[in-house]
Amino acid sequence: MERLFSHRIASLSPSPTLALNSKAAELAATGKKIFNFAVGEPDFSTPESVVEVAIDSLRRGRTRYGASGGGKPLREAVAAKLQRDNGLHFAIDEIVCGIGAKEILFHVFLALLNDGDEVLLPAPYWVSYTDQIRAAGGVAVPIAPPASLTAADGEAIDFDGLERAITARTRAIVINSPNNPSGYVLGQSELEKLAALALKHKIWVIADEIYEYMAFERPHLSLLAVCPQLRSQFILINGLSKGFAMTGWRVGYAAGPKDAMDLVRNLESHSSTCIPGFIEDAATFALTQGRNLMASAIATLDDRRKLTMAALEGFNFARPDGAFYVFLDVRQFCKGRTTLAISGLLMEAGIAVVPGEAFGVPGFLRISYTLAEQELLAGLEKVKKFLRQFERV
Ligand SMILES: Cc1ncc(COP(=O)(O)O)c(C=O)c1O
Repeated sequence: MERLFSHRIASLSPSPTLALNSKAAELAATGKKIFNFAVGEPDFSTPESVVEVAIDSLRRGRTRYGASGGGKPLREAVAAKLQRDNGLHFAIDEIVCGIGAKEILFHVFLALLNDGDEVLLPAPYWVSYTDQIRAAGGVAVPIAPPASLTAADGEAIDFDGLERAITARTRAIVINSPNNPSGYVLGQSELEKLAALALKHKIWVIADEIYEYMAFERPHLSLLAVCPQLRSQFILINGLSKGFAMTGWRVGYAAGPKDAMDLVRNLESHSSTCIPGFIEDAATFALTQGRNLMASAIATLDDRRKLTMAALEGFNFARPDGAFYVFLDVRQFCKGRTTLAISGLLMEAGIAVVPGEAFGVPGFLRISYTLAEQELLAGLEKVKKFLRQFERV
């Protein structure tokens, strides 16, 4: 029988970061020592106080269907958080919550895009944007990073390249600061340039702020706070996975114009239906507590970031001002090999890293510095030794 599938969906590839993690876990299960630098989550546990709220809520029977797009208390907690942390006012009908930022983003692309609509993605970009855009019928348009990506004080986005890529079909641009995988944090002047460009060309800005609490060298700024005129074409994406060590709980949210959020909420009602009630209660509690809940964990991450930078001295990497990644430039070690091939060899040597190809920038490796200090330093030594062996060849 001839097998017919959706061309769109058949063209997607599995998330390379999740695939790498599974491979690393598989090897570790056979007893092989693996330094896993491929993880996209902090190694901290969810705060006990958050867990307690969920358990209590379960005992109180919050086990039934809830409101699509998030119950009122959760959306009120998101609104209060956006006001408190970001200086942004959103009414609760301008907020939609769902099963992780990943699902919310997917629904935002489905809600905004028609077939062939183009979405600009300054590279390096998070792995799922491209496939989600494609699944929604859109066309992902990567914008190569400037050479200054690895400079101490250079810009992280090629604004000329960005403007040149705008066509009559351009509908949106996705920004992600603090950035996965590069760790850059966009500053005021970069945000002003982005805002001017979006206003001039009347395109949506989707701002993925999921690493907001992990901005170490300069404060995280939301683009809408820098440019309030963008309001009618701006959608903020955030979630509790990274900032509250709640990756497995699956809570994310979007804030934006009510007409767009109504569409996203409709999609939620026809897909996941709702966030489980006991998880909503825990998320409401965490959001109300805010960044203080994780202050010491985030300080630990900053220590590891500094250790990583010191250990990699002499190597080239993007300024790791935020998130928990170092994006290491290994072009001089490639000698005709792709970074995809190098990451395969590294895996055989017991080191899991994500190749830059996954983020639209070959020649780089993403290293997550979420390992405990000793493991981190031992693993980095191994990475350096491994790369230097290529230098000599
Ligand atoms: C940039 C970025 N956006 C969104 C997500 C998705 O987060 P969530 O766990 O809320 O789906 C991730 C997760 O790795 C991410 O790195």
